[in-house]
Amino acid sequence: MLTKEYVSEIKANGNGDIKELVNSNNDNKSVLFILENLGYLPNDFDDSWVQDLLTSKNKKIRLNAVKTLGKVKDESNISLLSDIAKNDESTDIRREAVSSIGRMRSKKAISLLLKMLDDIDPKIVSQAIRGLLVFKGDKKIDSKLRKLLEHENEMIQVVIQKEYFSSKSILKDKLKHPESYDYLKNTVVLGDVRDTLITIPDESFHLTFTSPPYYNARDYSIYSSYKAYLKFLEEVFRLTYDKTKEGRFLIVNTSPVIVPRISRQYSSKRYPIPFDIHNFLTKMGWEFIDDIIWEKPEASVKNRNAGFLQHRKPLAYKPNARTEYLMVYRKQTDKLIDWNIKQYDWETVNESKVKDGYETSNVWEIDPKFDKVHSAVFPIELCKRVIEYYSFKGDLVFDPFGGSGTFGRTAKLLDRYFFLTEQEPKYFDYMKSFLKKSDSNLFNKTESKFLILDEFKEKIK
Ligand SMILES: C[S@@+](CC[C@H](N)C(=O)[O-])C[C@H]1O[C@@H](n2cnc3c(N)ncnc32)[C@H](O)[C@@H]1O
Repeated sequence: MLTKEYVSEIKANGNGDIKELVNSNNDNKSVLFILENLGYLPNDFDDSWVQDLLTSKNKKIRLNAVKTLGKVKDESNISLLSDIAKNDESTDIRREAVSSIGRMRSKKAISLLLKMLDDIDPKIVSQAIRGLLVFKGDKKIDSKLRKLLEHENEMIQVVIQKEYFSSKSILKDKLKHPESYDYLKNTVVLGDVRDTLITIPDESFHLTFTSPPYYNARDYSIYSSYKAYLKFLEEVFRLTYDKTKEGRFLIVNTSPVIVPRISRQYSSKRYPIPFDIHNFLTKMGWEFIDDIIWEKPEASVKNRNAGFLQHRKPLAYKPNARTEYLMVYRKQTDKLIDWNIKQYDWETVNESKVKDGYETSNVWEIDPKFDKVHSAVFPIELCKRVIEYYSFKGDLVFDPFGGSGTFGRTAKLLDRYFFLTEQEPKYFDYMKSFLKKSDSNLFNKTESKFLILDEFKEKIK
């Protein structure tokens, strides 16, 4: 019976013996087993029998045959591999062939890899780039690769951006990544968020979580049209982008809304806010990371079913909307999340670790919160999860649409600092009554400050 140990033993006997083994075990299963268990191969390995397998009808055998040739690093196989890279019907095998050519690290390999940069399959181009990056510093190769910044595929652009055009994190504001300005900490500003944001330095916030106004579905903010509403949000999130630290997150809580009909002759209109926002957020550089569904009990949401319950006529079906979205975005960077984590000291990372019992799925079942003063407040649990999963202790977190200040209060409880803006004086005053109380938090003693926009501007001069 074929075993891994037996294949190793035969391989150790020297050239020829493996070939014999394959000849006497030439059914697909055995051949595949031998190929998969060959391990390291010396450069003088007799691979003539492997070449025959490159035309096998079995995809796995072809793939492993290509891998094996790549291990032998025998330049005379380059043409064979190049044919496979051009012609095999499977992308995986073509890609493996390009990878094997890359491993040859020879002049002939370079010219083939350069040709593959024109392939229409972005996976093949990416693999060729990997092979060529081994020669980074070679003027001809660098110049060809730099040009791929214009490549139409976004993943390729990212690789080239990172390899050739990455700014080595020049922090304009000279603050270290975990740090933030004291005058922003635990501050609420009364004013339009846009007027406030333009006064503060870029790269100030570690996290933004917000629930924007629901177009004209509630009474606290009114817009002349849906277009004007989207334009307003676009301005807010573009400014937020500039004020966010490299590689940090924006989480936007929205849901489609219904604006009631004018009279019985007209339909009510449903606006797909999360989807319309998504379009411009990704265009301005927010990288889409996740969609989290906030699920509420059916009894807690508006009942749209009453009519249908009676008549049961198709097309007039109206489901009760139990969900809202938390769309998660990250400020564009070529750095990995690991880079962000490494900016913090061991103690902060350790103290910020998320405890057992955290939510493992993207469906968060949380009861909504009803409030006597504000008609659309966050439940504390929602803020708690966002803060714990997307920030470190000591971070500065931001909510442009502060409302009753739930996000700020929760941030303080969890040893983060907050910065909130709110344009309605009645909510600003309401926030004061809550947030002052949370100043008793033992760990985060920075007193909450409540400033109207002009006072804030004076302070930061
Ligand atoms: C959906 S509520 C946010 C409620 C908040 N999440 C809470 O837990 O209380 C949106 C808030 O944004 C405020 N707002 C609307 N336009 C604004 C603007 N241009 N600048 C600042 N705040 C604004 C509204 O007054 C409202 O209180």
